[in-house]
Amino acid sequence: MPVKREDDIAGDLAVATVVDRVTTENGELVLRRRGPHFEIISNGTFLMDTRDGTSERLLVNAALDAALDAVARLGDTPRTDLRVLIGGLGVGFSLGAAVARPEVGRIVVVEREEPVITWQHGPLAPFSGHALHDPRVEVRRADLVAWVLSAGEVPGASDEFDALCLDIDNGPDWTVTASNDSLYGDAGLRALRRRLRPGGVLAVWSAAASPAFEERLATVFGDVRVEEVPVRVPRGVPDVVYLAR
Ligand SMILES: C[S@@+](CC[C@H](N)C(=O)[O-])C[C@H]1O[C@@H](n2cnc3c(N)ncnc32)[C@H](O)[C@@H]1O
Repeated sequence: MPVKREDDIAGDLAVATVVDRVTTENGELVLRRRGPHFEIISNGTFLMDTRDGTSERLLVNAALDAALDAVARLGDTPRTDLRVLIGGLGVGFSLGAAVARPEVGRIVVVEREEPVITWQHGPLAPFSGHALHDPRVEVRRADLVAWVLSAGEVPGASDEFDALCLDIDNGPDWTVTASNDSLYGDAGLRALRRRLRPGGVLAVWSAAASPAFEERLATVFGDVRVEEVPVRVPRGVPDVVYLAR
């Protein structure tokens, strides 16, 4: 049974206050504060909070470990130049994990919502360890799905990466906008595979297991591993990280 920390309990009991409320072309985004915690709400649906970033960090660390493992098997020298894509900035836990890795030489963050980037320069900065100050980090305000599917047409969209770390939805079966659905279909997965360097790894975060998605991944990539992370909510299903190459 997941155990609640003291600041979780304090946060749960606290009244939520709205820090910022913005309407973008994709609807309404709200940043709320509840005690020591922040919450991002998209069109009335909970998107992310700062309570526990375990699975969001695992998304990056497991992908990088798997990519490094492949490099080691190729007999390469130790690396400091890995290229990582973070799809979806959120509160910055995944980005924080990427900047903490000395093997990483470049991190591209693709985030669709300007307010999320603005909040990362403000109250959410501590949750990435102030990663936007790291010279290896480049933030592109863009739609990840369009960016992935339109190589060659959008500047930088044909870049290749050692780790593609995607967390833009609550999962392949629970997307925040319908336009995100195509990322998880066959064409989206094939486009993602083309963005990987040799030995590179695709990592996809999901709030619940998706057997159909796992099957599609296996068809397109061949090698799929699934990591489950228990959540600190009574009777909550584990978060899932899919790793494919
Ligand atoms: C669940 S949060 C990401 C959480 C993040 N892993 C973290 O550690 O905080 C999802 C993020 O993806 C962004 N997003 C959603 N759809 C997107 C898209 N099509 N392209 C780029 N970003 C998108 C949202 O605005 C939000 O910032």
